[in-house]
Amino acid sequence: MTAERAPTAISSELIATLGRAQTVTVMTGAGVSAESGIATFRDRNDGLWANYRPEDLATPEAFERNPDIVWNWYQWRREQLSLVQPNPAHRALAALECRYRDFTLVTQNVDRLHHRAGSRRVIELHGNIIETICHRTRRLIELEAINDASFVPPRSPYHPEGLARPNVVWFGEALPASALNDATAASACDVFISIGTSSVVQPAASLAVLAKDQGAALIEINPEATPLTGFADFVLTAAAGVCLPQIVERLNRHHPKD
Ligand code: OAD
Repeated sequence: MTAERAPTAISSELIATLGRAQTVTVMTGAGVSAESGIATFRDRNDGLWANYRPEDLATPEAFERNPDIVWNWYQWRREQLSLVQPNPAHRALAALECRYRDFTLVTQNVDRLHHRAGSRRVIELHGNIIETICHRTRRLIELEAINDASFVPPRSPYHPEGLARPNVVWFGEALPASALNDATAASACDVFISIGTSSVVQPAASLAVLAKDQGAALIEINPEATPLTGFADFVLTAAAGVCLPQIVERLNRHHPKD
């Protein structure tokens, strides 16, 4: 990745392309939540995977080996989330949704900040860390259903050997089929916008290329280059929380003849 890339201006052509679009699909990654104070995964200094090993914390084997360590790591991340707010990027995406009859927000983020900002149609490809499920049955566990909260992690009420775990997708696990199907269907769109993702984790990363293959105009918003950058029709090397509100504001002033 390049260390420094000059910020790019939002072109009239980009605004006209979004102005013409009927069907818009957005893919977001950890970079969209960075301006809320949530660490990304692959930042060289403070990225989660620079400081923790995914094989110790984000695989079913890690959970089965050390359920308490994994549970407590996710509890720490849940607590961090209770202290932060959606940022201007989340809010701009919620505003963008209101412009289009056919708008889909696909996210790899597990933080629910899009929901908190008011986005309505959100496909969570990697689950979320707010909900708790039974590791054995995958059934959602409501907090009231936990009999004894002193166990770390709590025991599942749905299986004698089941433990409670966050409703996230770990390395080596399949993505939720309905989320993946819906996201794949949404790749048939007029404009696909990839925002704040390093575009290295599959199958999420392939959806932008699939969209482009089907004729979508592809926009990437990221201060750094990614494997997707070369495929994009428009590249905005900028922070999402800066340029997304500007895009919404320009679209509000845009008239089709412009
Ligand atoms: P990464 O940490 O891999 O990438 C974050 C991207 O956001 C980088 O390309 C940054 O340059 C960019 N970025 C940082 N600040 C930004 C800002 N203010 N505005 C826009 N972009 C910014 O995170 P993801 O691509 O989301 O999976 O990672 C994908 C998956 O890998 C995650 O969902 C997670 C992880 O392992 C699971 O947990 C299953």
